[in-house]
Amino acid sequence: MITYNEQNRTIKLDTPNTSYVLGIREGGFLLNLYYGRRLPDDDLWVLAQRHQSASFSPSDPEYTDVSTDVAPMEYPTNGRGDFRVSALSVRNADGNSVTDLRYVSHRIFAGKPDLPGLPHLYVTDDAQCETLEVTMRDAYTNVETVLVYTAFADCDAIAKHVRLTNKGENTVKLECALSSCIDLPSMEYDLLTLWGRHAKERQLERRPLGHGLQGIRSKRGSSSHSHNPFAALAEKGATETTGSVYGFNLIYSGNYVITAEVDHNATTRIVTGINPEDFGWLLAPGESFVTPEAVHVFSSEGLGGMSRTFHRLYDGHLIRGRWQNEKRPLLINSWEAAYFDFDTDKLISFAERAKELGIDMLVMDDGWFGKRNDDTNSLGDWFVNEKKLDLGRLVDSVHAMGLKFGIWYEPEMISPDSELYRAHPDWCVHVAGRTPSIARQQYVLDVSRQDVRENVFAQIQSVLGKYPIDYVKWDFNRNISEAGSALLPPERSGEFFHRFVLGTYELQGRLVSEYPDLLLENCSGGGGRFDPGMLYYSPQIWTSDNTDPIERLNIQFGTSLCYPASAMGAHVSACNRTGYRTKGDVALWGTFGYELDPNKLSEKDRGIVKEQVREYHKYYDLIHGGDLYRLVCPWDNAFHCAWSFVSRDKREVLVTFVRMRKEENTILHLKLQGLDPDKVYTVEQTGERCSGALLMYAGLELSGCARNDGDSCKLHLTAE
Ligand code: GLA
Repeated sequence: MITYNEQNRTIKLDTPNTSYVLGIREGGFLLNLYYGRRLPDDDLWVLAQRHQSASFSPSDPEYTDVSTDVAPMEYPTNGRGDFRVSALSVRNADGNSVTDLRYVSHRIFAGKPDLPGLPHLYVTDDAQCETLEVTMRDAYTNVETVLVYTAFADCDAIAKHVRLTNKGENTVKLECALSSCIDLPSMEYDLLTLWGRHAKERQLERRPLGHGLQGIRSKRGSSSHSHNPFAALAEKGATETTGSVYGFNLIYSGNYVITAEVDHNATTRIVTGINPEDFGWLLAPGESFVTPEAVHVFSSEGLGGMSRTFHRLYDGHLIRGRWQNEKRPLLINSWEAAYFDFDTDKLISFAERAKELGIDMLVMDDGWFGKRNDDTNSLGDWFVNEKKLDLGRLVDSVHAMGLKFGIWYEPEMISPDSELYRAHPDWCVHVAGRTPSIARQQYVLDVSRQDVRENVFAQIQSVLGKYPIDYVKWDFNRNISEAGSALLPPERSGEFFHRFVLGTYELQGRLVSEYPDLLLENCSGGGGRFDPGMLYYSPQIWTSDNTDPIERLNIQFGTSLCYPASAMGAHVSACNRTGYRTKGDVALWGTFGYELDPNKLSEKDRGIVKEQVREYHKYYDLIHGGDLYRLVCPWDNAFHCAWSFVSRDKREVLVTFVRMRKEENTILHLKLQGLDPDKVYTVEQTGERCSGALLMYAGLELSGCARNDGDSCKLHLTAE
């Protein structure tokens, strides 16, 4: 609910348990007065009247009771006395970038507008949210800035983006146009981020805020392995279950920043948006620019509460289409089973074995197109390598067995050794005078160009139009260097990175709208583009090329800070670190599948796999429809970890426990979370019956479970 209090000139956005308060001060200054636990409506005047100036700080000579240097600015601009990090900096026709926004008007309405060309949260019914649009204007340049906020009625989440329109007579250049800013009146927070690299994605890091700048960013052209576009500010001492936590996530797949700045008054500003480095966008008179959407979640129930809000929000308001709610097929992927070494018969044999095991879909990974038998060539030549493969026979045989069939693409790339490159050498991302760098033997295809997008999409259509393909894995296996497009004039070169991302979104959007039954899974050298932008197009994303179940624990726990189980591709592979039982128990957390040669499974392991397939079906609704509770996190305990899914009605619980390293002589009581204290639960595996209260406050005894290094166990609890 969003309300305007005319007397105090405050606007209050409420979600079920949170409030966000804006204040409009004389002179048109828009202040960020409060964000946190829900407040009553009647005492906002106290916030509205707070002192917001300092005598040594610059201020508008007519309105000296606001100094932009110390006031909590809602959308801070460059060069007008706010010396902290800016959200907006516009270079004007005079050559300076002094930018000044003042309030003009606002409106409140039910529902949520779309962001054209950009992924965004959505509602299916206008009653699910309310939107506030605040119009601000720079009187000198006449750049109009509309700040757009949506408060959700069913989740403690607020989405923000910004629409800038040049209503002046001169072209201006946006040098920084971020999506959001929050100013908090204290620095008593820890900053939590998810760093990573290939095969070690989304590792949680927690550090206390210090004075000055700190944060994360990408300048790699994608959201990247290095830092996920997610951050949280957790009040000192906040845990998995207690304390105030703010979560920030940007619905964007390109270069971004999340920067926190603690100033000399020990207040904290945190901004989120497109990375201003390597960015510059010309805005001619009449033109508009829309920033990506930033998501803000507040929880007073620790990190677990924050994560569950993100999960519900993304499952209900980001992931779309047929596969949002339909059961995802249990797949087997050819990559770790065969790499480039396959032919039609080998893949048919995979499908035959998979069928016997109860698997639903065969995915043919890299190596089916052009002349590709290794990674040195053919990206861009998206036609079947007929010397290697009879795709028609393969798809028909797989379908005749009752399995679905999927295929791999990497549409934003081009190999120097490809027909496409030989025909169009200027279609690779490059700048004049520099040899493009090579990575994994490939260049990046310039999908910022419409003609290039048409070509690559037509190639995809010619395969999908001819063969009934059920699933596409869309990969992106290198970062962007020498970022430039042959079509962009020099003054627009700063637009390249964002135009590239918009090009990718257009391609993926077109793919899922022209093939609405297709299941799309994104991937980027494992989980290098695991972000909410990608989730808008593909309901699942490959989490990591690392399928070792013990390594996966940190990766999946980290990923779960922000992303739901339904989004996390998790497969059992042939790696030897643990037995198949643990591999299956860990993979069951996400969108389950296999990444191995099923012909090579022993009789014993085939039995375990069949059992896993039964469990996948048994627990699917609970895992995909329930709430996640991280019970013991690997970053808190070096020996074991545990997590659970609890159904929304609290009648069903699945607890998974993994012993990473054996400890001698320990008695383990695992305290469950999220149960109904008054319900009596029965543990299927032991027959034990006890109350939710006992299970949460005294704990479940686990001493006999999973005794050795790398063992795991699951406990299934039900209540009447
Ligand atoms: C990336 C993916 C893998 C696989 C290969 C194919 O590394 O993460 O799963 O698809 O590309 O080249």
